[in-house]
Amino acid sequence: MLKYLNRATGPALLVLAASAHGATSAAAAGDPAAGERVFNKCKACHTVGPDAKNRVGPHLNDVFGRTAGSLDGFKYSSEMVKAGEEGLVWTDETMDAFLAAPKKVVQKNRMAFAGLRKEADRADVIAFLAPYSVASGDAATAPADASEAPVQTASADSESAAAPATAIGDHGVFGLGRPALPDEIAAWDIDIRPDGKGLPEGSGTVLVGEEVYTDNCAVCHGDFGEGVDRWPVLAGGLDTLTEERPEKTIGSYWPYLSTVYDYVRRAMPFGAARSLSDDDVYAITAYILYLNDIVLDEDFELSKDNFLAHPLPNQANFIPDDRDQEPHYAGEGEPCMSDCTDGPVEITMRAAVLDVTPDADGDGAGAIE
Ligand code: HEC
Ligand code: HEC
Repeated sequence: MLKYLNRATGPALLVLAASAHGATSAAAAGDPAAGERVFNKCKACHTVGPDAKNRVGPHLNDVFGRTAGSLDGFKYSSEMVKAGEEGLVWTDETMDAFLAAPKKVVQKNRMAFAGLRKEADRADVIAFLAPYSVASGDAATAPADASEAPVQTASADSESAAAPATAIGDHGVFGLGRPALPDEIAAWDIDIRPDGKGLPEGSGTVLVGEEVYTDNCAVCHGDFGEGVDRWPVLAGGLDTLTEERPEKTIGSYWPYLSTVYDYVRRAMPFGAARSLSDDDVYAITAYILYLNDIVLDEDFELSKDNFLAHPLPNQANFIPDDRDQEPHYAGEGEPCMSDCTDGPVEITMRAAVLDVTPDADGDGAGAIE
């Protein structure tokens, strides 16, 4: 039988369990709010509160005053039952000892939990659990059957009667993690928008950029952005976009310079991301503009203030595409989403015949080098 204040059903029983504790008891010493967080460690197996059910472990309503291993309907280990038969009753003290070292108090019991090493954690979780027990007094006085415990009634609108039962842990339903610190958010929040929003203070010239680039980037991307072996090409390719094999570089293809700054700062040099200063990234970005003939002066200095003054050549070819207005799609009408084929659906070709599946011996198209 559950004895909780249930706001939904009007007048209810008020359980004054905490007052049954002596001033020195663990529950009185503990902090129930902290205990709720400690209880997250138990939640995989135990529930408590109005909807509590037996799960991996027995529910912990009315656990104080309960004889160990005695809850109807839960299959305890024979060791736990035996401990109860030998007189173990859950009180602040026995619970404290059990939680400190479960296998020492009830040898070979089935609770797969190492225990709570910190005394404060144990006191806190006991304080958290106590209000869910009607009889949480001393072992000597607590009746084994909690349903015999005295309860006081109170009117449901009494604020002090707020049931602690269904509160969710501080950090979401599962009680995981913690709020991110301002420093952590700042370190993560580094995106830069095409309109320049997010650009940091700082500046850098083409000449400085050439130096930083030569030291950090040229091994892979080539002295002039031409790309060593098969590393990405960063410059050139202008007017190749309509060719069969277009060369897509920052100069020929990318829409926004903000992506260059953002990407280099975020991800390069490959293997040492975030190792460059903001000034270095400005300088490199200026140098990449220079390599792509977008600025021609070696003394050109790029900063937040003139960042938008040098748009990339292909920007105008990137258009908002809402599918309704865009010419390629406009006029096609509503796309068919169901029953689009007259008659029964047939298999017209096998993937193996279409040659999209690599050959079993791995030499076919699609094999990854
Ligand atoms: C991995 C699952 C698991 C975790 C985690 C766990 N327990 Fe248990 N607990 C059990 C099982 C299973 C039993 C029954 C043991 C038996 O029958 O031998 C049990 C028994 C108990 C009992 C005895 C109840 C009774 O009716 O005799 C108490 C009290 C208890 N656990 C409290 C806790 C507390 C408090 C925590 C968290 C600090 C916790 N447990 C963590 C699985 C767990
Ligand atoms: C060890 C080799 C290496 C070094 C050094 C290196 N990169 Fe890269 N870079 C890469 C690889 C690999 C990619 C492709 C990454 C991907 O697609 O996920 C890349 C991609 C890029 C791109 C995007 C190219 C595109 O068109 O998609 C830019 C811009 C770039 N790097 C700039 C730099 C700059 C600036 C530096 C020096 C600060 C640098 N890289 C250092 C290997 C390197």
